[in-house]
Amino acid sequence: MSGLRGAVIGCGFFAQNHLKAWRDVEGARIVAVCDLDPARAEAAAALTGARAHSDAASMFAEEKPDFVDIATTMEIHEPLARLAARHDVAVICQKPFAPDIETVRRILGFTRRPIMVHENFRFQRPLIELERHVRAGAVGTPFFAHISWRTGYDVVAGQPYLAEVERFIILDLGIHLLDVARFLLGDVADIHCRTRRTMPGAKGEASAVLSLRHLSGAVSQIVCSYTTRIEPDPFPQTLIELEGDRGSLHLRHDYRLEHHERGRMTVHDVAPRPPAWADPQWALVQESVLNTQQHWIDCLRSGREPQTSGADNLKTFALVEAAYASAASGRAEVPEA
Ligand SMILES: NC(=O)c1ccc[n+]([C@@H]2O[C@H](COP(=O)([O-])OP(=O)(O)OC[C@H]3O[C@@H](n4cnc5c(N)ncnc54)[C@H](O)[C@@H]3O)[C@@H](O)[C@H]2O)c1
Repeated sequence: MSGLRGAVIGCGFFAQNHLKAWRDVEGARIVAVCDLDPARAEAAAALTGARAHSDAASMFAEEKPDFVDIATTMEIHEPLARLAARHDVAVICQKPFAPDIETVRRILGFTRRPIMVHENFRFQRPLIELERHVRAGAVGTPFFAHISWRTGYDVVAGQPYLAEVERFIILDLGIHLLDVARFLLGDVADIHCRTRRTMPGAKGEASAVLSLRHLSGAVSQIVCSYTTRIEPDPFPQTLIELEGDRGSLHLRHDYRLEHHERGRMTVHDVAPRPPAWADPQWALVQESVLNTQQHWIDCLRSGREPQTSGADNLKTFALVEAAYASAASGRAEVPEA
């Protein structure tokens, strides 16, 4: 057993994917797991063979990990990142990086070691393949993308805290799609957004429509909803139509990637290749968690900046803030990273 020594803080709902994926990551192993709830920490320890802790400060002092994986909800990311900085430990942190952009800036201000946001959508196999085709010139110069994530899946059942937040789908899910838009079409000049509160019992918006103008001149549209009645429900797939001056790429339901060019259509199968422990319903997500964590370790070991470093994620977060500002003002807003 060799490689970097890691610790996971927060062993709740989504961290189960992290914990299982860490067992397959090359170049790292988890030596400590920590949760305020000792039963959750013990269950995580049983899964990974790591030592269980219920206090993050004493865990850092005793275990001296090389990196920490923060998988708690966003309100606790700043104090835990501060603790990591005090112990000179590199950080991978779940999205959203923080509840607001001021907190993101503060975290980046005190962080001296590598830091990456666990932004896993761009590490989903269909999106890796789509971007690879775009970069290889399959559509020529892109001028338009339509990015859709509309579902009736009950997200609040697994994450009950989502019903209480004032900023709901854009901060929780739209943030992934904004990162995907940047991944495919580059940085954004301005953004326009409309939201609707469509989920009874939820405080925040459960549907949103966003229009982005990219610095390249391309435009994209993001549509997302947690209250769409649709069969078959594509959850948790992102569906994309991307057009350029030579052709277009359509990422359809069930991982069918169509390439249209010169009157011809070619179809590629871009289904995930999930790890053995994956649940079929979550294969797309679980494979992307493994890919994200492997990317982080590869970057940490080679000294490269991760694709979704803290500094990069600040730009995605600025789009979230600009989207909410636009929903309030009714005008297009310029992101301020
Ligand atoms: N990338 C994705 O696709 C995806 C999907 C779902 C959730 N998430 C994100 O994952 C994060 C966690 O969400 P969740 O639903 O798993 O939350 P959760 O509430 O189920 O789990 C959080 C855990 O952190 C523990 N915790 C809180 N403060 C702690 C502290 N100071 N020290 C140690 N443990 C502490 C809690 O006891 C809890 O067990 C959120 O930021 C959420 O947005 C990401």
